[in-house]
Amino acid sequence: MFERDRFIADCRAALAADRSHRAVREVVARAVAEPAAMLRDLGEPRRAGLTRLYHSPELTILNLVWGPGMSIMPHEHRMWAVIGIYTGREDNIFWRRVGEEEEAAATVGRSRVEAAGARSLCTGDCAALGRDIVHSVLNPIPRLTGAIHVYGGDFFGTTRSEWDPETLREQPCDTARVMQLFEDANSALHPPGG
Ligand SMILES: [Fe+2]
Repeated sequence: MFERDRFIADCRAALAADRSHRAVREVVARAVAEPAAMLRDLGEPRRAGLTRLYHSPELTILNLVWGPGMSIMPHEHRMWAVIGIYTGREDNIFWRRVGEEEEAAATVGRSRVEAAGARSLCTGDCAALGRDIVHSVLNPIPRLTGAIHVYGGDFFGTTRSEWDPETLREQPCDTARVMQLFEDANSALHPPGG
């Protein structure tokens, strides 16, 4: 039976036993195997957003709710991540960096990315991402998607890059811009006066 404090304790114990994502992935996979229990504890998603369930220098656990049709530009984490879906669907595109060497002189090492693969995650699915992965996320369905994202580090205190959604050029990750995407999704979901 999923219970968030138990889940957080299990993730911390898993990380203490194995600094890689392996043991944490097992904890997340076990949790999303019972999505109804997660929905009972976390609540049926009502709004797009990002909720911190746990945050330390070694471990960050987020409850992420994606708005209908919401997408987020390619970005890196610079730490491993484990994603588990408890309601809805999340499509991940994986990207590879290209042109870093040729462009280094002109653009101070700013890279571009090109699509390298994809993975659809349905309710109950769990995926681990290595520390160098660049991914973008799309919620392809017309309702909210709820996912637990666990990161092997300080998600909020780490400098990282994102890639412009139009040009696919690297730029510093802007947290305010990302948070605005969630607010835009909520404005579409709950129009003022609607
Ligand atoms: Fe991500």
